[in-house]
Amino acid sequence: VSAEGVEVGLLRVGGTIVAFENVCPHQGGPVCQGEVLGRVEAVLDDQKRVVQERVADARPVVVCPWHGHTFDAATGECITDPRIHLRRWRAVERDGRICLAGRGQRPAAEGSDDAG
Ligand code: FES
Repeated sequence: VSAEGVEVGLLRVGGTIVAFENVCPHQGGPVCQGEVLGRVEAVLDDQKRVVQERVADARPVVVCPWHGHTFDAATGECITDPRIHLRRWRAVERDGRICLAGRGQRPAAEGSDDAG
C-alpha cells in the first residue's frame, strides 16, 4: 500500500498486522516483496555443537529479495545484524480495515504495537 507517498508492506504475524516501509536498510531493496519464511533455529548440545536444525514457524522472517538479509517479521530487526532494522509503521486493524497511524523510528518491543 502507499501511505504519505511511501510504499508500505503489510504482514500478518501471529494474528497481528505489522507494517514496514518497503525499503531495505542494506541497500534500499524492496524488502516487503521478499519471501516470508519460518525462522531456522539450531538445536545445540551441552558442548554448543549443532545437533539439529528446525523451522520455527511461530517466528517468521522476511528475506530481502536483493541480497538475502533476513528480518524478524514481527519487529523488523535484522537477524544477522541487530544494528539495522526495517522502519516500522503503526498499523491498527478496525472493522476489517487496516489504518496506518504513522511511522516509527525503531522497531517496537516484541509483542507490542507501540512503534512510536
Ligand atoms: S538491499 Fe536488502 S539485502 Fe541488500
